[in-house]
Amino acid sequence: MALRNIVEDGDPILRKHCRPVDEVSDRIKMILDDMVDTMREANGVGLAAPQVGIIRRMFVAEPDPETGQVYYFVNPEIVTVEGSQESEEGCLSVPGYMGRVDRPEKITIKGLDRDGKPQEHTFEGFEAIVMCHEFDHLEGILYTDKAKEIYEITNEPEEAEE
Ligand code: NI
Repeated sequence: MALRNIVEDGDPILRKHCRPVDEVSDRIKMILDDMVDTMREANGVGLAAPQVGIIRRMFVAEPDPETGQVYYFVNPEIVTVEGSQESEEGCLSVPGYMGRVDRPEKITIKGLDRDGKPQEHTFEGFEAIVMCHEFDHLEGILYTDKAKEIYEITNEPEEAEE
């Protein structure tokens, strides 16, 4: 496993519509594992493949680092969304900023897991925000595109960034 460089806003890679993963091969698993390492090293709670320069439909998320529960989504599809909430979110590709975004309160996503097996999960609250944010990355969308307000942050290493 290894750390990968995180692509920052302004790089056209972040604006690509990502292609599906053909097969959850050993190479794909290695990239997913690297993404988890990279996310944790950067104190993030989620990381999408284009953020490490891979234009494929997959992301990892660890919305609650206390529990250490990591979600892997390969070729994710949104099944349902419900309700709404206002987020306060940041992005590892947009360092130094946070913003408020209208997000669903609840989201159900299906896709393949790290073993290539079908899975479906429902997320609420903060977890739903993380999943929506990561899913958007696969469409070339950054939270800053949707934010009602964006503000600069200074020295807040405890803030979770996706
Ligand atoms: Ni992000």
